[in-house]
Amino acid sequence: MLKIKLVYNLSKVGSVMILCSCNVLSDRDIRERLGDSPSRRSPGALFRQLGCEPKCGRCIRNILATIDQHRATAGECAGEGACDSCRADELAA
Ligand code: FES
Repeated sequence: MLKIKLVYNLSKVGSVMILCSCNVLSDRDIRERLGDSPSRRSPGALFRQLGCEPKCGRCIRNILATIDQHRATAGECAGEGACDSCRADELAA
């Protein structure tokens, strides 16, 4: 009989939001893939880097918003409201 023991360290789990339910990609997956680079990557490039591909496409808007939010926190934007990064929350809604 096979016994499996699962031990969760809840402090390491934190909160994640699934952005792509088809590929089970979280906002954390996207942010980790973006790393420290402020350059904009396309959702298609991110999917390829994560070893998957878009299926239904319903997540693209939220992934774009996450990319824009990441760019804003990476310091690319001056925060004057003139770019997509500044409107990321608005675009995600
Ligand atoms: S939710 Fe991302 S491709 Fe379907």
